[in-house]
Amino acid sequence: MQIINKIKEMQSLPDRIKREEKRIALVPTMGFLHKGHISLMKEGLKHAEFLVISIFVNPTQFGPGEDLESYPRNFERDFALAEKAGVNVIFAPEAKEIYSAHFQTYVTLQDLPNHLCGISRPDHFRGVATIVTKLFNIVKPNAAVFGQKDFQQLAVIKQMVSDLNLDIKIIGAPIIREDDGLALSSRNVYLSPSERLPALSLFKALNNSQRLLASGVTDASKIISEAVELIDSYRETVIDYIAVCDPETLTDIKRIEKPVLMALAVKVGKTRLIDNMVLEP
Ligand code: PAF
Repeated sequence: MQIINKIKEMQSLPDRIKREEKRIALVPTMGFLHKGHISLMKEGLKHAEFLVISIFVNPTQFGPGEDLESYPRNFERDFALAEKAGVNVIFAPEAKEIYSAHFQTYVTLQDLPNHLCGISRPDHFRGVATIVTKLFNIVKPNAAVFGQKDFQQLAVIKQMVSDLNLDIKIIGAPIIREDDGLALSSRNVYLSPSERLPALSLFKALNNSQRLLASGVTDASKIISEAVELIDSYRETVIDYIAVCDPETLTDIKRIEKPVLMALAVKVGKTRLIDNMVLEP
């Protein structure tokens, strides 16, 4: 496994790999790898013979007061996990390599970022769309894999790839959970032992909503208010949003007559957690 830090070196590799008639899959990450990332890598290897992961804590997707400085990092552990997963190259640039002092070009989407996480994190998806575009231009993958836990991110990237005619297959991979149901996230390390139970309320609320819908409750506001009640019953939680929406446009849905996305973001202590589920009537 090779580590590449420089853009020019990374950009020159794909031509050689593709000459060998190998396809390249990219798994973009911000490091501090966990089983969720490993599942994305496994998925990548189903679609390509050469696997690149990027490890880059992207400053432009963090807002003021967010956890850019404290975001967990452990390159040695990441290296060992990536090697075991069959990664060929880790692309790990420094921030100044990616964003020059005069950087001024961003990729923005018009509608998808105006929902869910984009409301409390107004520049987040601009940062994500920009870094992912840059990574696509640097790694030149045939396919790229993203987790469905960040459902809105996946929707943004699919839309961007379609709008800009990028010749890259975007693959969404299912949420990986701990045994107790907590969706895996690098940020879970922030949770104290006493915050663990409140953190499980997200998945509990999603399951409860699916049960309500299956029992015939199709009024989204009723389903949301039950979820609010469940999550609010833990004093450590502060709800950012709970939404029932169209999985493609992310616009709110009032009456559930087809599969809908239920998505939520909740702060547990200082940790902001997100989770989602497609609810089937
Ligand atoms: O999902 C993430 O870890 C990040 O948002 C991504 C896609 C690597 C872009 O920085």
